[in-house]
Amino acid sequence: MKTETLEELNRKGFIEESIDPTLDLFEEIERLKKEKNAIILAHYYQEPDIQDIADYIGDSLGLSQEAAKTEADVIVFAGVHFMAETAKILSPEKKVLLPDLKAGCSLADSCPPHLFRKFKEKYPDHLVITYVNCTAELKALSDIVCTSTNAVQIVESLPKDQKIIFGPDKNLGAWVAKKTGRDMVLWNGACMVHEIFSREKITKLKERHPQARFIAHPECEDAVLKMADYIGSTTGLLKYTINNDAKEFIVATESGIIHQMEKANPDKTFIPAPPNNSCACNDCPYMKRNTLEKLYLCIKNGLPEVTVPADIIVQARKPIERMLEISAKLGL
Ligand code: 13P
Ligand code: SF4
Repeated sequence: MKTETLEELNRKGFIEESIDPTLDLFEEIERLKKEKNAIILAHYYQEPDIQDIADYIGDSLGLSQEAAKTEADVIVFAGVHFMAETAKILSPEKKVLLPDLKAGCSLADSCPPHLFRKFKEKYPDHLVITYVNCTAELKALSDIVCTSTNAVQIVESLPKDQKIIFGPDKNLGAWVAKKTGRDMVLWNGACMVHEIFSREKITKLKERHPQARFIAHPECEDAVLKMADYIGSTTGLLKYTINNDAKEFIVATESGIIHQMEKANPDKTFIPAPPNNSCACNDCPYMKRNTLEKLYLCIKNGLPEVTVPADIIVQARKPIERMLEISAKLGL
């Protein structure tokens, strides 16, 4: 049974080690969690098995709130790299593990910090709000961080004449600008999963399911959002399916959330919104890099670990804490 060297691990991103096929991974993970005083935080886009073993499942805001308050020694982050980095920034004394270091994010990649720094220099009198889906380095260049749950309220908490740069998601930024009536300078970034939905195919699907509610995440393009009965973060979408009387929902976000929607509403049907080409799908290739096997090996070996340079932790913590303070005041 061979365990990777650190060098091999960093290259590959995850531990590759043979696992006894008779092992009950759920039982083993539970045992290791207790032994190491570890907590598993999982995003709604993770595969169902990971969601089912997690101690907490949530959206980006909920996950950062949990990371800030946990008393565990080890945070196993079943999500993507920027989420694990946020947990490390909020709890620097804890060990933060990510089952696969290559679980990145196309949206975070669409905003390289050196280019954003230059962009920011063009607007010296603007306040910088960044969506949490970005690197720790980008957060360090920001005044306030936001998530899709609190972006509108964070912008509304600022004086009306405050000039704002919003990055990296142009779709979320445009939606927030529309909802708040604020004029914001937007960075031109987007998420590869939320940009693939087809307006034409959704129209046809709605015709076939006239009673269905169409719900969408604000990372989707404006043309798709215009068709939606409800727009919200993953938690917002889940709550809407619980509180709304409809029996069918067409869901325009990553398909992982449907697991919780089905668990919460066994009598309702959820249809993933169709992508614009038959080769595409609504799965995030980064989120889905994590598997139950990688999660087990990661908690067992205490690797791979997510680290953030100390100076970035200090600078990036302020805008994240500002977001958490505003959210707490608003009861979010
Ligand atoms: P939320 O779960 O915060 O809505 O974010 C969605 C997302 O794209 C995470 O990568
Ligand atoms: Fe990034 Fe989009 Fe995947 Fe979320 S769904 S992690 S925004 S690529």
